[in-house]
Amino acid sequence: NASAGAGHGGGHGRHVLVFPLPYQGHINPMFRLAGILHARGFAVTVFHTQFNAPDPARHPEYRFVPVPVAEDCDKGVVSGPGAGEGIDGVVSHILALNAASESPFLDRLRAVLEEYSRDAVSCLVVDGHLLSMVHVAARLALPSLVLRTGSAACFSCFLAYPSLIAQGYLPLQGSKWKMEDEVSELPPYRVRDLMRLGKHELTRELLARSVAAVDASAGLILNTFDALEQPELAKLRRDLGGGIPVFDVGPLHMLSPSAGASSSLLRADGTCLAWLDAHAPASVLYVSFGSLACMTARELVETAWGIAGSGVAFLWVVRPGMVAGSEGLATMPEGFEEATRERGKVVEWAPQEDVLRHAAVGGFWTHNGWNSTTESVCEGVPMLCRPHFGDQTGNARYVEHVWKVGFEVVGAGEELERGKVEKAIRRLVVEKDGGEMRARAGELRKKAVECTGKGGSSDLAVDALVKHMMSL
Ligand code: UDX
Repeated sequence: NASAGAGHGGGHGRHVLVFPLPYQGHINPMFRLAGILHARGFAVTVFHTQFNAPDPARHPEYRFVPVPVAEDCDKGVVSGPGAGEGIDGVVSHILALNAASESPFLDRLRAVLEEYSRDAVSCLVVDGHLLSMVHVAARLALPSLVLRTGSAACFSCFLAYPSLIAQGYLPLQGSKWKMEDEVSELPPYRVRDLMRLGKHELTRELLARSVAAVDASAGLILNTFDALEQPELAKLRRDLGGGIPVFDVGPLHMLSPSAGASSSLLRADGTCLAWLDAHAPASVLYVSFGSLACMTARELVETAWGIAGSGVAFLWVVRPGMVAGSEGLATMPEGFEEATRERGKVVEWAPQEDVLRHAAVGGFWTHNGWNSTTESVCEGVPMLCRPHFGDQTGNARYVEHVWKVGFEVVGAGEELERGKVEKAIRRLVVEKDGGEMRARAGELRKKAVECTGKGGSSDLAVDALVKHMMSL
């Protein structure tokens, strides 16, 4: 909102510097937050890597400062692990990016601070995975706020990680607990819902660094809202010991609706919306697994024939590189296109917020990335869950067990199989059970609207955040 310039809403034209982690699921919430702060009167400067760099032309209201990082860190596929590479690749990349950015960021930040004068700059808002940038800011006496793009429950899991290792829950391989056992200090998580990021040592290091980033910060910003995670937020505030203010300003996409679309790394296929217009309310299944999750060629085949066999109309995002072993577009199984031409559409990338908002969408088959999960909840769309890694298993647990707005396609350790897929889709979109989940999701949507409305908990949290930033 370029019209909300200096002097409105509390920011009074002071500068906020932001540095997102260059992955889609992290870029979107940071740009949404930047949009909110800009509307409140802050001038925004975005630091970014060349890898997955944002397009400055789409944000003429912001200043962009590239941080040149060592060549091998700035290269990579557009949105995640290359073909066949696991999530380990992303975790290693995040750790390497931290190390490689430290010195160039110090130079760039120093130059920007000299230019603006220190008093004109409120703080750095940095992604929770960028501990090195928090350290750099501290060297220049600039306070940092940390944006964590996952849930409150997810960060409590990060905090508990060392204790879970000590109690033998982790590493999962060789755990003395069974996958279905409840984790006593982290209800409602079971062992199988705990954070999964590939190699144990890498995960441990990444999470410890994320906790250190929050410890060293002047505040924690979370993309969640009170009505969704009230007990989890209370627990997190207790766990943090009251020393670090927590701002639950989500769902960010509702407070800053167009920011997600403008920070998209892939071009969304807008023809989806006209296609949806031709369908009855709540009749279409939207299928998308976010920007990183990959499937095997076998899973693609089972997914395709399961969707076809369900008889339900569908809009399916098949991202380039989504099938392990294929760099570009996946080859759909022979005969699939003919069998589903009348009631299906496959696209490479969708305008997801608009799709979920469309009345024709009756269910979302998702990998349960936190952005997708909150976007779905806030549009009253129930979910079919197929978590892949990281926080997604824990998010799926909340969807199924706490909010009761969806269920897992297949159980842990079970293979994806077309018969099960077919049944699950019909249960979600066509059957009474799914209708009840849709009704509960609709109730959550109402709560999200209340929270983000004038005087709602998230609106007040943004007020508190702005006040805090002005005090820094
Ligand atoms: C990653 C992790 O997977 C996730 O668990 C973590 O919480 C954040 O980082 P990602 O896998 O990309 O994110 O999933 P998600 O969090 O759902 O973010 C994807 C974003 O891309 C969403 O904002 C979604 O609206 C957008 N999107 C996705 C599109 O705009 N179009 C699409 O076709 C698919």
